[in-house]
Amino acid sequence: MHLHVADHPLVAHKLTVLRDESTPSATFRQLVDELVTLLAYEATRHVRTVPKEIRTPVTTTTGVNLSDPSPIVIPILRAGLGMLEGMTRLLPTAEVGFLGLQRDETTYEAITYANRLPDDLSDRQVFLLDPMLATGATLVAAIDYVLERGARDVTAVCLLAAPEGLEVVQEALGDRVDVQLVVAAVDERLDENKYIVPGLGDAGDRLYGVV
Ligand code: URA
Repeated sequence: MHLHVADHPLVAHKLTVLRDESTPSATFRQLVDELVTLLAYEATRHVRTVPKEIRTPVTTTTGVNLSDPSPIVIPILRAGLGMLEGMTRLLPTAEVGFLGLQRDETTYEAITYANRLPDDLSDRQVFLLDPMLATGATLVAAIDYVLERGARDVTAVCLLAAPEGLEVVQEALGDRVDVQLVVAAVDERLDENKYIVPGLGDAGDRLYGVV
């Protein structure tokens, strides 16, 4: 696993407002969107391209196009949905798959309750979106899911990670595959309810309300 922490004053500022418990849902959603666009810039650093000849008003030159097949962006439902727009803004040709994983609040294990993904991901660049890497159980389950479908080029984008979760992901992956992980910050720890400390609370609830 390769961890990239986006060290940028705009990231730090947006994260501060997200952490603030007095930030209302509408602002929270807007800021997640903006923050993910900044993270998407880092996460797509190795997006595949092919050369493309074009004519400028002055001359001909060679630029790049994003390669086919297009990358696939997979928000992990529910909270990952709040990250989708911010990601696809920079990757407009990407396809979008969905993966519904929920943590069991007593065992903290990940349960799959929905999926809409191509069967074969072997030649796709896969971008998983999950705001909170807490215990790591959900992200490990999501990574296993896409690896089983042949994916070999996987980047996960998270807002916050806990050191305990990073260790779990690292141990689960070993050297099976080199997953890229882009986060806005690595926080201190998990509390007794497996919430990230200092964190930002329940990302799904803060995005969409307690439903
Ligand atoms: N999921 C969240 O939404 N917040 C946490 O702190 C941990 C898991």
